[in-house]
Amino acid sequence: MKPSIIAQEGISSSPPTTNKHLIRWVEKMAELCHPDSIHWVDGSQAEYDFLCERLVAVGTFTRLNEEQWPGCFYARSVPGDVARVEDRTFICSLSRDGAGPTNNWEDPFVMRRRLKQLFRGCMQGRTMYVLPFSMGPVGSPLSGIGVQLTDSPYVVAQMRIMARIGAPVFAEIDKDEKRVVPCVHSVGMPLKPGQPDVPWPCNETKYIVHFPETREIWSYGSGYGGNALLSKKCFALRIASNIARDEGWMAEHMLILGVESPEGEKTYVAAAFPSACGKTNFAMLLPPKAMEGWKVWTVGDDIAWIRPDAEGRLRAINPEAGFFGVAPGTSVNTNPAAMATLARNAIFTNVALTPDGGVWWEGMTDAPPAECQDWRGERWTPAIGRETGRTAAHPNGRFTAPAAQCPTMDPDWESPQGVPISAIIFGGRRSTTLPLVYQAFNWSSGVYIGATMGSETTAAAAGALGKVRRDPMAMLPFCGYHMGDYIRHWIKMQRELAMTPRVFHVNWFRRDVQGRFLWPGFSENMRVLRWIVERVHGRAQGRETPIGWVPRYEDIDWTGLDFPRSTFDELMAVERAAWRKEVISHEELFIDLHEHLPPELIYERELLICRL
Ligand code: GTP
Ligand code: SPV
Ligand code: MN
Repeated sequence: MKPSIIAQEGISSSPPTTNKHLIRWVEKMAELCHPDSIHWVDGSQAEYDFLCERLVAVGTFTRLNEEQWPGCFYARSVPGDVARVEDRTFICSLSRDGAGPTNNWEDPFVMRRRLKQLFRGCMQGRTMYVLPFSMGPVGSPLSGIGVQLTDSPYVVAQMRIMARIGAPVFAEIDKDEKRVVPCVHSVGMPLKPGQPDVPWPCNETKYIVHFPETREIWSYGSGYGGNALLSKKCFALRIASNIARDEGWMAEHMLILGVESPEGEKTYVAAAFPSACGKTNFAMLLPPKAMEGWKVWTVGDDIAWIRPDAEGRLRAINPEAGFFGVAPGTSVNTNPAAMATLARNAIFTNVALTPDGGVWWEGMTDAPPAECQDWRGERWTPAIGRETGRTAAHPNGRFTAPAAQCPTMDPDWESPQGVPISAIIFGGRRSTTLPLVYQAFNWSSGVYIGATMGSETTAAAAGALGKVRRDPMAMLPFCGYHMGDYIRHWIKMQRELAMTPRVFHVNWFRRDVQGRFLWPGFSENMRVLRWIVERVHGRAQGRETPIGWVPRYEDIDWTGLDFPRSTFDELMAVERAAWRKEVISHEELFIDLHEHLPPELIYERELLICRL
């Protein structure tokens, strides 16, 4: 039987849009996926409450202790669905060359046929939610709209926090029959009549597929994070990077923050760090008490859409409305703003559940709870943890919380024209070689630094941990086209600009010979940020090294911190022998991308080799 467009459950009952293309597409997809019913998402509180009730009933959600964690829910995935799956992520451009050597590619016609087979009947026994979302404030000229079809109410609940969704977005779509990015998502677990559902439906077979030319996204088999919240990495980075290249702007894996000096001067910076390398923490930085009068304001923690304005300045918006943050390591000491943000109306996934109906993760408090249920649902005690080596929370366990609840949100965070960007900061997780901070000589040397950035792999993606890989601009898993062309686009952006932002590289993760972090990080990163801001305004001194400008000990504000000069020297060391090896490892990237790399990068490499 052809599913009716009228919902059999839920609140919205008929298409709240007049957009014929959208209605026809929904009908077509319903014919393919065979859902039991269709629910047009209006984004209301009543609808959210209704979905959460459903999720509690099926066991996906546990309602947390209402007194301590008002409006919060807890979810656990299955162990096979805990992170982005990069080896199952595809860019299906018409030509293989369009995707480049750093992306998985499949012929789009072959892939479409495969997806049609996978999606045939995949929503049987489930509701198909039609979820419109706006990346960026609804109606802003810088925003983009998508519509995600999904059979996961968990995803709908998450997306209500992460993006602007529902009725206002349908209204925007109807205004002038706007083009939307169609996104189809299924957990890939149809239910036979009478078959009971499970708390975390998913499928061992996973496909995260992008069609850059037709600007479409298809995701199958996963319910987790960037695999399933298609607004985020799939739309706002992989598809948007294609749109940005065509239209002359940039879609980047960057946080955005504003630094306010004691005099009230505001300087905005954007920073690209790979997954689980400190963006959320840096975006919400609380300056050390001793640095009186300095404030950091948050605009975004993961994605920046950046465009040149009429004056030739880069302006950035955060296309998202919430945070999907790494839970482990987040505490009132390391990130009090995040702790305040996630205190209510949040969803926690793959952390530990305490007996009093609260959540816990490694690093949240000094002392672990005497007992809890770990992210697998098994009994966990500190002793069991020590014996088995198991953590209570999965290292990629996450909180989902509304940005509007964050006490450090910048007054302009939803400004439709964005905030002006004065500096771009790159940063990886590197135990060796890379100093705490250095500044590029100019735009093209800055692009070289970003393009050759390396980082040790983390739990944010499935696969081996701690291996250094080249991760250009922290976009390796997120660039939706040929990485060489992407780097070329960066070089070309200079032409659109009256003034390019200053470019820096930071590394919070350098270690001593015993393997301990040399730098305290978190709050103390304000000292580095201050040097960056002063450099932007031409007020701070530095010293020239072969790799760029670095601060001397006396160029850093050490008020209230007793940091030995010798440790600073170790942290800042630019060792020629190590750097020669580093430059040779850049070669990897150059070999992979050679034909598409801009010549500026070849020159920059030559210059670097000469200086070394
Ligand atoms: P994604 O959401 O995956 O893109 O990650 P992210 O870049 O936002 O990373 P996040 O800020 O969540 O930090 C990831 C991990 O790095 C957490 O465990 C933090 O505790 C740790 N971390 C963040 N900043 C610092 C720092 O300055 N020093 C040290 N040592 N660790 C840090
Ligand atoms: C990342 O991996 O960079 C994230 C988490 O921000 S996810 O949304 O799963 O991509
Ligand atoms: Mn990220």
